[in-house]
Amino acid sequence: MTTVGVDVGYGHTKIVRACGREIIRSIAGPMDGRMTATGLKSTVDVVELAGEKWLVGDCALIHSPRPGVIRDRDWLDSQVWRALMTRALRGMNREGGAVIVTGLPVTFYQRDRVKMTAAVRAAWGGSDGSLIVKIIPQPLGSVFAAMLDDKGRVARPEIAKARIGVLDVGHYTTDLFTVAGLEPVERQMETLPGGVASAHDHIARDIEDSTGWRPDAAQVDQAARTGAIRVAGQSMDISQIAARRFAELAAEIEAQVRTVWKSGADLDLVILTGGGAAALKGYLKLYRHAVAVANAEFSNAEGFYKLGVKYAKR
Ligand SMILES: Nc1ncnc2c1ncn2[C@@H]1O[C@H](COP(=O)(O)OP(=O)(O)OP(=O)(O)O)[C@@H](O)[C@H]1O
Ligand SMILES: [Mg+2]
Repeated sequence: MTTVGVDVGYGHTKIVRACGREIIRSIAGPMDGRMTATGLKSTVDVVELAGEKWLVGDCALIHSPRPGVIRDRDWLDSQVWRALMTRALRGMNREGGAVIVTGLPVTFYQRDRVKMTAAVRAAWGGSDGSLIVKIIPQPLGSVFAAMLDDKGRVARPEIAKARIGVLDVGHYTTDLFTVAGLEPVERQMETLPGGVASAHDHIARDIEDSTGWRPDAAQVDQAARTGAIRVAGQSMDISQIAARRFAELAAEIEAQVRTVWKSGADLDLVILTGGGAAALKGYLKLYRHAVAVANAEFSNAEGFYKLGVKYAKR
């Protein structure tokens, strides 16, 4: 059996397989009818949807006349989501069966999980071999990432029994999720609007204010990570700007988190995950028992993958 964990985020799509991981900007658009795939550096980012060629990721940003993002609530119905999922499943061995594990934002989980199972099956296409599709709330991926090892074995059994809060700081949204004995606790769940993109927006504006030039989303992301950006051939130090904007975002998130988890005293552990947990490391001063996971950006997808390996063994 071949296994894949796919985390389609509003910002980036993270894919984990046995052979490694991949990250793709969550953007897709139809290919210009006059263009041929031979004009592209690589064809891995070209997928076919209902007979039409679509481009995904940075390739779409550069070459598609109408690149789109998934920001709307009906993302499962969007061609962009389909293109990203189809791209994520590309190249998988179709003999011997497959396990696909993916997630939904917590607020749509109950409403959309049946629909998503069908959408994933459709993206997989044909019915060669047996296919297992498993959908879980996105932040639960980070709980499985902490609990299971790469072979899908339970490495930390205490996690299965604990009451755990997961704070998943994403690109446009921040999910607050609670599990007790791996069961979701409905009362302590929330999707907060606002993620790293809002800090990036402020940073872009700050740079524009001092230089007259506004960097695009990818340039700001890079600048925020490295603390520097090239403007007119010179390196500009933006570490102070980034620190201020990330500290503001962290304070905002902290205040909202405390309205749900209060002192956090009833939680055994708080897991900080999502790319935003990496971005806000050093700024988020939430609870003494809060831990920032390693490879935060990939943690949900990694958990999906490990859970998939567990299912594949059954
Ligand atoms: N190590 C890092 N340092 C700084 N920023 C990072 C780091 N890793 C990821 N990010 C940024 O964190 C943000 C959130 O990333 P993530 O992939 O978790 O979001 P997403 O899952 O696409 O969004 P959402 O959860 O809202 O759907 C992105 O803007 C990303 O660029
Ligand atoms: Mg996410």
